[in-house]
Amino acid sequence: MEIQLLWTLLLITFSGSMAKRDFRGKALLFPKPTANSYVTLTPLLNKKLQSFTVCLWTYSELSRGYSVFSYATRASANEILLFRDRVGQYSLTVGGEEVTFQVTESPLTPVDICATWESATGVAEIWMNGKPLVRKVMKVGYALSDNPKIILGQDQDTYGGGFDINQSFVGEIGNVHMWDYVLPPKLIKVKCFWGNVLNWRKLEFQKYGSMSIAPHLWV
Ligand SMILES: *[C@@H]1O[C@H](CO)[C@@H](O)[C@H](O)[C@H]1NC(C)=O
Repeated sequence: MEIQLLWTLLLITFSGSMAKRDFRGKALLFPKPTANSYVTLTPLLNKKLQSFTVCLWTYSELSRGYSVFSYATRASANEILLFRDRVGQYSLTVGGEEVTFQVTESPLTPVDICATWESATGVAEIWMNGKPLVRKVMKVGYALSDNPKIILGQDQDTYGGGFDINQSFVGEIGNVHMWDYVLPPKLIKVKCFWGNVLNWRKLEFQKYGSMSIAPHLWV
């Protein structure tokens, strides 16, 4: 009897932690600056990436710097960091090395962002609203570590923590997808995404602090 109860509890816990949710038509809403509101995303594939693409959209009023996408491993807190440094400048960090990208931004407009990097060539791309920014090269031959902590809403300065309220994301974020390869330009442009590392339609996540899940208003 007790063993049966234990099994039932285990099953409930297991299926609960494995639940994947379809976020199509949904936005994550971070209403105010905090150092403790964030979402962790569990990757569908756990491997040592040698290239990647990450795509998402953001809508924010912030002019200060903020974290867009933070992927930390035990080897590097900034294994992948996509950061908006200030109005008109984004940076992409891979394995602790950062490159910056200049962009003309329209104020108060939602942005579609994709970032890619490939170990073989080191080429790093950022696409903003379907247009490629000037490419950079970094970390040729590097492989990312596995077992990432993937966090939206905060910048990790340590593995799974080290948050700074002044780098927190405030606003709306959605349609997060990630692949273990560089998505070809044609596919980045059509925006019909189905990531194999992160998939917004099959998302396993944990939410912390004040963050709301709300319908997506402007598409
Ligand atoms: C955040 O920025 C404010 C205003 O610039 C500053 O007073 C505060 O000390 C900063 N907090 C942290 C944790 O850096």
